[in-house]
Amino acid sequence: MLRTAVVGATGAVGRELLALLTRPGMPPIRLSPVASARSAGVDIGARIGLDAQIEPVRALNDVDFATMDLVFFAAGAEVSRQVAEKAAAAGCLVIDNSSAFRAREGVPLTVPQVNPESLRHRPESNIIANPNCSTIQLVRALHPIHRLATLRRVFVSTYQAASGGGLRGLAELADDSRSVLDGRADLAPGRFGPPLAFDLVPQIGLLDDHGAAHEERKLRSEPRKIMGLPDLRVDATAVRVPVFHCHSEAVHVDLERPVSAAEAEDALAATDGIRLYRSGDDPACPSPRTVEESGADRALVHVGRVRVDESQPGSLAMWVVADNLWVGAAYNAVDIMRTALDHGWLG
Ligand SMILES: NC(=O)c1ccc[n+]([C@@H]2O[C@H](COP(=O)([O-])OP(=O)(O)OC[C@H]3O[C@@H](n4cnc5c(N)ncnc54)[C@H](OP(=O)(O)O)[C@@H]3O)[C@@H](O)[C@H]2O)c1
Repeated sequence: MLRTAVVGATGAVGRELLALLTRPGMPPIRLSPVASARSAGVDIGARIGLDAQIEPVRALNDVDFATMDLVFFAAGAEVSRQVAEKAAAAGCLVIDNSSAFRAREGVPLTVPQVNPESLRHRPESNIIANPNCSTIQLVRALHPIHRLATLRRVFVSTYQAASGGGLRGLAELADDSRSVLDGRADLAPGRFGPPLAFDLVPQIGLLDDHGAAHEERKLRSEPRKIMGLPDLRVDATAVRVPVFHCHSEAVHVDLERPVSAAEAEDALAATDGIRLYRSGDDPACPSPRTVEESGADRALVHVGRVRVDESQPGSLAMWVVADNLWVGAAYNAVDIMRTALDHGWLG
C-alpha cells in the first residue's frame, strides 16, 4: 500500500488529485486527504461523488509525515513553504503544485512528456515541483516545434480560466455573473482583483518593478528550466477571462529555420498527448468549451490554428487549449508519481 497524503484535498486541484488517484488501474493506495482545520472530518469522497471510500479529511497539523511515502501539496505556496520540507525531511517524496520550490536548485521542475530526464534520479531534496498550469500546456506544445526547428523566441498571450483561482475563483465568477444578469452592478473587487464577470483582467498576480505580473514571470522562467534552454526569450501577457475551466494561449514563435504550417502540424500530430485540429476538422479549432466537453481528452493538450506569416521567415503561430486542473496540475502530478513508481522510488 502506497501511503499517500493529498494536502489541499478539498480544493480545486486536490479534488482532481483524489479523483485521479482513486481511478481503476492505480496501484493500491492508502489515501489520506488533508486540508485546513476548517475541513477536518469532512467526507470529501462523498462530497465530490467518488466511487471509492476514502478517509475523512485530516487537519494538516494532525499529520505525521513519518507515516507517509508520498505527499502531494496543493494548498498554496505559503503552506508548501512552511510544511513541504518537513515532509521531505521525514522521508516522503513530495510533489508540490505551488510555486514555492520551482526555481530552486536541486528541485526538478518536471513535465514528463518534455523533460523526463529531470527524474533520472530521486532528488536528494525529496521534492519535485509541478510547473505552473499555463507553463505546462505551453511547453508541451513547444517541445515538438523546438525539436523540429529550434526555438529562438516565444511570445505568448494567455486567456486563463477562473478555476485557476481555485474554488473561490469559480464561485466568485458564478455569483458575479448572476448578479450582473440580475441587474445588480455593485460588484466588489475579489479573487481576481477587479470583478471578472463579463470583463477581462489583464493582470494575474502582483506587478514587479518592470511592470511584469507574477504569472508572466513564471511563464518566462519556467520554460527555460524545463526545456533546458536558459537563454530562451519568452514574452508573456497573462489575462484572466470569464471562462470557468480551461486555459487558452495564443503562441507565436521565431524559429532557427523556416517551416511550413504542414510540417509543424505533422510534428504536433505525431506527439503523444497532443490533439491537433486541422482547418477541415470539426471543430476546426479547440476552445475552452469544446475541450471541457471532450471528457477523456482532458489529459490532452489541444492545438489548432497552426500558421506561418509568409512575410517573416521562421515565424509560426498556434492556438493552445488545455484543462488547467488536469494537464496544468493534477494529471501532471500523477504522471510524476507514475514515473517515481516506475523507478522504484516508492517501494
Ligand atoms: N487551480 C489551478 O488551475 C492550479 C493549477 C496549477 C497549480 N495550482 C496550485 O495548486 C495549489 C492549490 O490551488 P487550488 O486552485 O486547488 O486552490 P483552492 O481551490 O483555493 O484550494 C486550496 C486548498 O488548500 C487548503 N488550505 C488552505 N490553507 C491551508 C492551510 N493553512 N493548511 C492546510 N490546508 C490549507 C484548502 O483547505 P480548506 O478547504 O480547508 O480551506 C484547500 O483544500 C496552489 O498552490 C495553486 O497555485 C493551481
